Amino acid sequence: EKGGYDHFMLKEIHEQPRAIRDTLTGRVKGGQADLSREIALSPEEIREIERIHFVACGTAYHAGLVGKYVIEELVRIPVEVDVASEYRYRNPILTPRTLVVVVSQSGETADTLAALREAKKAGSRVLAITNVVGSTVAREADDVFITQAGPEIAVASTKAYTSQLIAIYLLGLYLARIRRTRSEAELAEVVKHLEELPELAERTLEMEDTIRRLAAEIAKKEDLFYIGRGLDYAVSLEGSLKLKEITYIHSEAYTAGELKHGTLALIEEGVPVIALATQTSLYDKMVSNIEEVKARGAQVLGLALEGDAELHKLADEVLTIPRTLSFLTPVLTVIPLQLLAYHACVARGYDVDKPRNLAKSVTVE
Ligand code: F6R
Repeated sequence: EKGGYDHFMLKEIHEQPRAIRDTLTGRVKGGQADLSREIALSPEEIREIERIHFVACGTAYHAGLVGKYVIEELVRIPVEVDVASEYRYRNPILTPRTLVVVVSQSGETADTLAALREAKKAGSRVLAITNVVGSTVAREADDVFITQAGPEIAVASTKAYTSQLIAIYLLGLYLARIRRTRSEAELAEVVKHLEELPELAERTLEMEDTIRRLAAEIAKKEDLFYIGRGLDYAVSLEGSLKLKEITYIHSEAYTAGELKHGTLALIEEGVPVIALATQTSLYDKMVSNIEEVKARGAQVLGLALEGDAELHKLADEVLTIPRTLSFLTPVLTVIPLQLLAYHACVARGYDVDKPRNLAKSVTVE
């Protein structure tokens, strides 16, 4: 049942190229994203959307954070991202021109479901991105995008997250096309890169042996930091959550620019820092932040793009991911972070697929 892998989590990490490909299948036509089967809104209604809210929990919330960057960049509609357990109690501003996108692998998360119901009651339109056909969220939403990750068994979510990202890119491309915020040629260029991701994810998985070695070191630590800017920050949060939930190592993710507003005080000799520097437009800023932590003795594991020049001179270790459009990199950047958490967990001898205190589906508040 584990397909020759030691754990479901490892199997599911390796299934990502396939999950990405399957989630794209049937949703690209003539080189353009086409969600007319998933989203029943008319072009007129799509043009009337004034704001978008992503609402979700945990890893799915982290996918929503990527969604904010992607949708605002492509469609120029203001996007808010909320944790469902906050959203449902904070009286959010909802109108019939608000599109609420709930993201849930299981489609059964109690808080996400409650947020969906609040949004519907207020007359907003709800799109669900979920992995489970017939789940409560899928049944109650107005529109449904089913990710094709396949059943996810390990408590720590991996392939569901990357599939949610693909759904979000397709949503952004589809909305941009209908609202004409980008030219057909520009959108076709993004779609072309999107379709290359399964192969690039495959290549990213090839660094597993290196990661196993690095994970053996991480497994000995009790505290570490993830830093990044822009989309790398969103992925840092996910990397940090993966590590916490299965290795029980304490970690925090910070936007690199916030370090000097407090956190830098925690950086001293030997403190491990995982620095993500895959965003081209923010690269120089990240290099300065890495210099700052290095100067205080941090032990830096850098994550950069293939052919990277600067990080190799600065960081103690560097992992590189294949090049793609900057805003598609989260799909690849998260893979080494998933593998790092997995191998650190194995090195520590904990139960990978069933971490303590956690359930796969959180159907109570
Ligand atoms: C983390 C993880 C959880 C879930 C969260 C939401 O690895 O799996 O944080 O992402 O409980 O679950 P769904 O997506 O089923 O609503």
